Amino acid sequence: MDFSGNHILSIDQFDRSDIDKLFSVADKLEPYASKQKITRVLEGAILGNMFFEPSTRTRISFGASFNLLGGNVREITEVGSSSLAKGESLADTAQVLSGYSDIIVMRHPEEGSVKKFAEASRVPVINGGDGSNEHPSQALLDLYTIEKELSQNNKSLDGLRIALVGDLKYGRAVHSLCKVLSLYSKVTMNLISPEELKLPIKILNQLKASGINVIQTENLEEGISEVDIIYVTRVQEERYTNKEDANRYRGLLSLNQSIYTANCEPNTVIMHPLPRDSRSDANELDTDLYENPNLAIFRQADNGVVIRMALFSLVLGIENKIEESSKSVNWKVGLNN
Ligand code: NCD
Repeated sequence: MDFSGNHILSIDQFDRSDIDKLFSVADKLEPYASKQKITRVLEGAILGNMFFEPSTRTRISFGASFNLLGGNVREITEVGSSSLAKGESLADTAQVLSGYSDIIVMRHPEEGSVKKFAEASRVPVINGGDGSNEHPSQALLDLYTIEKELSQNNKSLDGLRIALVGDLKYGRAVHSLCKVLSLYSKVTMNLISPEELKLPIKILNQLKASGINVIQTENLEEGISEVDIIYVTRVQEERYTNKEDANRYRGLLSLNQSIYTANCEPNTVIMHPLPRDSRSDANELDTDLYENPNLAIFRQADNGVVIRMALFSLVLGIENKIEESSKSVNWKVGLNN
């Protein structure tokens, strides 16, 4: 795909060579993400960071990534603070905001809304999550994390064995991740969820057609026993019209250290797109896993910065200009040990 000057709306836009290109730009950006160097390559550029739904990681890491490349960030953080609350259409909002920005990231609760917005935008739009549909940048950072974690055990994405746990019906992070994994060969996917929260049939069929070996189960212990990666998700309660339903599923699938020790192969990596639901009736990833070196959830969240920097670099066509404005860092980075 041609990244430059294009929208990033769905993970379906990517093939393997696009992923390779993105990851090699991300590797080049690691010194900037980890504050060994700074660059001003996007000096003067403005990101419109439009979040019409709650977000911590996605909004802040998109904003920080743009800042790390030298650009400025303008934000909307709730529908109530924009003219959508006065009945303005997405198309009009897109017309206006794209006049103030060089690129826009948008999250919105409605499926297909970001695409609709992009159709009226005069600048590239990146989907930061549209309802329960897709979350492409999350899938890219998840894939990057999986590759990095696997490489430490001399494994690769081809031949991956992964368990996806939780709300597979409404989880947009899962939807995009499943689709991108269908680009790899000899993948085994254990889908672990209550019957009512199974992966949508359309995505399931797409996986099977691509040759993924799919196993569906409701049994956590069974599903996590022979995998390289366990990807846990929370019940997406904001998608349920009847909150009683969400309450029924919360806490049904919950991983802790003793379940891990009893069932998993050594070095099985634990991931979660976060936020994990830490309320005692949910607790899908117990805090007793903190000491487990295979808990990769915070490394995964950190990778959001470098992957989003790489996305901006490719879409704005500056991936070969980063070094030109490179400087050393003036301040002390991090804490003393
Ligand atoms: C995910 C999302 O918003 O879809 N979070 C994220 O972006 N890291 C997952 C979730 O909210 O459960």
